[in-house]
Amino acid sequence: MAEQQVAHEGYGLLKGKKGIVFGALDESSIGWQIALAACREGAQLVLSNVAVALRIGALDGLAEACGGATVIPCDASNVEELNGLFSKVREEVGQLDFIVHSLGMSQNIRKGKSYRQVNYDWYLRTLDVSAISLHKMITAALDNDAVADGASIVAMSYIAAQRNYSTYSDMGDAKALLESIVRSYGSRLATRKIRINTVSQSPTPTRAGSGIDNFDKMYEFADRTSPLGNATAEECADYVATLLSDLTRKVTMQNLYHDGGYSSIGTTLPMLRLFHEALKDQELIDGAGFDHLDMD
Ligand SMILES: NC(=O)c1ccc[n+]([C@@H]2O[C@H](COP(=O)([O-])OP(=O)(O)OC[C@H]3O[C@@H](n4cnc5c(N)ncnc54)[C@H](O)[C@@H]3O)[C@@H](O)[C@H]2O)c1
Repeated sequence: MAEQQVAHEGYGLLKGKKGIVFGALDESSIGWQIALAACREGAQLVLSNVAVALRIGALDGLAEACGGATVIPCDASNVEELNGLFSKVREEVGQLDFIVHSLGMSQNIRKGKSYRQVNYDWYLRTLDVSAISLHKMITAALDNDAVADGASIVAMSYIAAQRNYSTYSDMGDAKALLESIVRSYGSRLATRKIRINTVSQSPTPTRAGSGIDNFDKMYEFADRTSPLGNATAEECADYVATLLSDLTRKVTMQNLYHDGGYSSIGTTLPMLRLFHEALKDQELIDGAGFDHLDMD
């Protein structure tokens, strides 16, 4: 059956709204696609990333494609820089109707450190950049009066917040913290009708995603297990656009899976068959280490 396409001109879901997207690096980035979808839906955008990403990425091109979006460099873990950014936004753009947090990083993953032997300074940095930055971002936006009543805040998460995915290492802990911050801040933000949610996305071939050990295998496993298959970055962006719109104004403090149904599947018959066939191969069994848990 042919897949349904989003109307080329969009649905005007974000007409008249202003928002900021953190974390677009290149075309593969989820944040990049969210920015494109938001501008297709009529939003006026501010884009932000760390200064080095602005240099190596192509954010100016995205800004142009989004009708001349403002670009402001900022390390999202740095309170001073966040305050500078939101004060500039308040002054030059006005109050924002949405904030998208689509960023994260782990030096431990990047440098191939096993979970047992994480570098603790890097571990703290993982939590700071990938999770606490959301708290800092919201506080700075509120302190600078840069967020409007009824705004929507969305941050990107992954199922490793709830389940053990060994290769996701300390990022699993960061995502658990991120989702907890969404709940803790959510009730407070509700006093101004501001909503906040995480979207838990399928494995997606981006720079950050592909940096995970054995990403290609995780991607394929999820794709074959999900009834609808893995969700792409573009599909994620369409979903996020609905969460930024007024259509979802009573959705808050949720972790919303956008994963083709993966999170609700136990197993599937084709996967069982594959597993059963693999078990007939002694060499595969020896190599897989089924007799002990992986300490890494
Ligand atoms: N790719 C996946 O498989 C997948 C799945 C689920 C969730 N996510 C999440 O989606 C979000 C976006 O990641 P992506 O997959 O698009 O990868 P990406 O590499 O395109 O984006 C990560 C971004 O984080 C930015 N960043 C890193 N440190 C920063 C800092 N200190 N301040 C500001 N920005 C910083 C990077 O510059 C980059 O733009 C992340 O939260 C990621 O964990 C990704």
